[in-house]
Amino acid sequence: MDARQKWDRIYSKSCVEEPAACWVLSEYAYLLPESGRAVDVASGRGGNALLLAGAGLQTTAIDISSVGLEQLQSSAQKRSLDIRIRAESLSSSSLSEGQWDVIVVSNYLQRDLFAGLEVALRPGGLLYYETFVKNKTDESVGPGNPEFLLDDNELLNAIPNLKVRVFIDLQNTGKTDKGCRNRSCLVAQKPLSK
Ligand SMILES: C[S@@+](CC[C@H](N)C(=O)[O-])C[C@H]1O[C@@H](n2cnc3c(N)ncnc32)[C@H](O)[C@@H]1O
Repeated sequence: MDARQKWDRIYSKSCVEEPAACWVLSEYAYLLPESGRAVDVASGRGGNALLLAGAGLQTTAIDISSVGLEQLQSSAQKRSLDIRIRAESLSSSSLSEGQWDVIVVSNYLQRDLFAGLEVALRPGGLLYYETFVKNKTDESVGPGNPEFLLDDNELLNAIPNLKVRVFIDLQNTGKTDKGCRNRSCLVAQKPLSK
């Protein structure tokens, strides 16, 4: 079964919960610009896209699963939001150069996209990235395959030309029942000029 079939099947199972934005986008939504173009990368059912469009950004969602994207369209219509959808498999050329004021990636790791994320941002644009780490405190969450899990501090160094505004990678330090565990989170900004 390929990725599209796998995710179409997952999203086809009945789901009553409304999709929610990832933690780092919800928590730091106050950093968003008041207007501009935003993209939710590997959006799934589009919790991030719904937040971005609701914040007044012209929003696109990209995902391989047309079932997930149909569910996003239905959620957007219910909220009278306009979200452009693109059903495609992500590659390094999926995001055009200098187009986006905001890029969000959550719960998805495709390392060959990292360099393209920087190029795709407009100067001053923001990248929100949140996904699972290898050193989870709860093994039952996120992928089991280490290929899809971040190393300690990997996200901090993944896109070196961006300026880090927020970085969280608690690993298993201290009281592991507190704080954002199992995931690492980044908000980073493309400099206005190099
Ligand atoms: C764990 S879900 C995350 C969805 C959403 N970002 C979230 O945080 O809820 C991973 C998503 O990646 C999508 N995906 C997997 N492989 C992909 C690919 N090659 N190109 C585009 N999307 C892909 C899946 O369809 C699925 O929606």
